[in-house]
This record gives sequence, C-alpha cells and structure tokens, in this order.
Amino acid sequence: MKKVHVITGGSSGIGLECAKLFKEGTVVIASRGEDKLITASEELNNIGIDVEYYSTDVSDKESVKKLIDYAKSFGELKTMVHAAGVSGTVGDVMKTLKIDLLGTYNVVEETYNGIDKGASVILIASMMGHMVSSNNDQDELLRNPQQEDALEKIASFLDGDSDLAYNYAKHGVQLIAKLNATRFGKKNSRIVSVSPGIIMTPMAKKASAEHPERMEYMKSITPIGKNGESEEVSELVHFLASDKASFITGTDILVDGGLTLNLQKQKQK
Ligand SMILES: NC(=O)c1ccc[n+]([C@@H]2O[C@H](COP(=O)([O-])OP(=O)(O)OC[C@H]3O[C@@H](n4cnc5c(N)ncnc54)[C@H](OP(=O)(O)O)[C@@H]3O)[C@@H](O)[C@H]2O)c1
Repeated sequence: MKKVHVITGGSSGIGLECAKLFKEGTVVIASRGEDKLITASEELNNIGIDVEYYSTDVSDKESVKKLIDYAKSFGELKTMVHAAGVSGTVGDVMKTLKIDLLGTYNVVEETYNGIDKGASVILIASMMGHMVSSNNDQDELLRNPQQEDALEKIASFLDGDSDLAYNYAKHGVQLIAKLNATRFGKKNSRIVSVSPGIIMTPMAKKASAEHPERMEYMKSITPIGKNGESEEVSELVHFLASDKASFITGTDILVDGGLTLNLQKQKQK
C-alpha cells in the first residue's frame, strides 16, 4: 500500500518546506485557505511531489477526522507533521488556544485513530513553550484541552495576553507529545515535538513588521547569530519521520540557534 504523509499547515512556511522532502508516497497538505493550498500544491507538483490537498480547520475535531479519512483513501497513514498554527499576533487568547492547543489535541487523537502501525507524528511546538514554568495544575489543563471549560480555565491565568496564550499553548504541545508516547508506542509508532526558534516564514515576517526592535534583539542574542530558515526545521522533521529516528519518541527537540538558552538566562536574572 502507498505511504501517506499528512502535513497540516502545509500551504505555507515550515509545513510547506516539510512537504517538499517527502518524495516517496502521497503527501496531503491541509490548512484552511483553499487558494493557498492550490498554489502550494502547484509548487509541490512542479518539483515532483505526489500531492493532494484538503481544506481543514484543526480547531474543529470533525474537520480533522474528515482530513484523516481523506488521507487514508490514498493508502496507509505513515506520517503526520502538524505544523498548522497561528502566533499570538492574532490578538485573541481563545483563538490562539483553540488553534494551537486544542488543534494539536484534535490532530493527535484523530491520527491515533487513523494509524495502524509504524507511524511517526511530529508536532511543531515552539521555543516559547520552554519559557513557561511547569506547574502541575496548569500542565494538567494543557495536556487535556478538550475537557469542559479547560480553555476558559487556561485563559483565566493569561490576563488577556495572546502572546502568553501562544507560549502556554506551545508548552501544551510539548506536554501532549510526551503524554502520548506510550500509547503510540503500543502501535509501534512514535510521537515527538519540535520547537523552532525564529524561522523566517510569513508568520515571523509579520511579527518582525509589528515588533521590529524585539525581533532584532532576539537575533542579537542568538548564539548562531542569525534567524533560522524553514529548511533548517524541515530537514530535522524529515529525519524524525524516517526509520533513522526509530528510537526517538516522547521528547522535544529545539531547533533555535541556541536562543532559548539565552532567553532562559535572562528570565533567571
Ligand atoms: N516561524 C517561526 O518563527 C516559528 C517559531 C516557532 C514555532 N513556529 C510554529 O511553526 C508552525 C508553522 O508556522 P509558520 O511559521 O510556518 O507559519 P505560517 O507560514 O503562517 O504557516 C501557518 C500554516 O498554518 C495554517 N493554519 C493556521 N491556522 C490553521 C487552522 N486553524 N487550521 C488549519 N491550518 C491552519 C496556515 O494556513 P491557513 O491560514 O490558510 O489556515 C498555514 O498553512 C506553527 O505552529 C508555528 O507556531 C513558527
């Protein structure tokens, strides 16, 4: 049976770059905007990727279920790269939590139901998830965003700050990868999160335009001395999806040029 690789957020940025590396089997890219999906599909098709697209809103569980059913119509679901997300610049705490946190839960659950064995799930989190201090009660909510009132309870400690909502949501993504490792292992499958630093995608370019000083400052304290490019994340994701990464699961991998180290040092001052 043909291998199928689903890439949420595959119409742009990191997701699109990941899609370019899956040269065997069928790639299904999924995000909300159909125009962007069509343009991305043409780009992928032109470089020889066997690509399909499906309009999906990850914050809607039914929509994600339909995506998985669609993907499985092409063969066996082997890879889920979950790169769909919004940044705190959307300025809406609940929207950020619904897409970035609940969306991740939906993708993980429906992927689990849709895989047989030997699958890999790579969740794109963020270095900002590492800037949230662990707290048992809060972490429990972040791991279970589907529970009644969980998002409202999380929002209650965010003070209306959507950037903070993003950080907590991404901390939640890291926790969800860890929580699910044993369960996925029983299906001979792996789940990891990848936490990028600043990667020059449309999302980061928008943040740069809105907060140029903050972005310049972050670059100035990055040990590698530059921002990242999508290819620097996609190569890692492609490795993690392959059998070469057969002993890696239930962990988070930072790909941030070392920036988190310096941000954490500053937080401790
Ligand atoms: N760029 C960075 O510096 C950076 C750093 C750390 C982490 N990340 C994370 O990396 C991931 C990819 O971001 P990017 O930088 O590549 O951003 P991007 O270029 O803006 O791409 C985001 C993708 O997500 C899709 N998307 C947004 N909301 C969605 C929803 N509700 N349902 C389905 N798809 C949705 C977008 O398409 P539609 O809008 O058409 O749905 C688009 O395809 C995100 O999770 C982001 O948080 C990025």
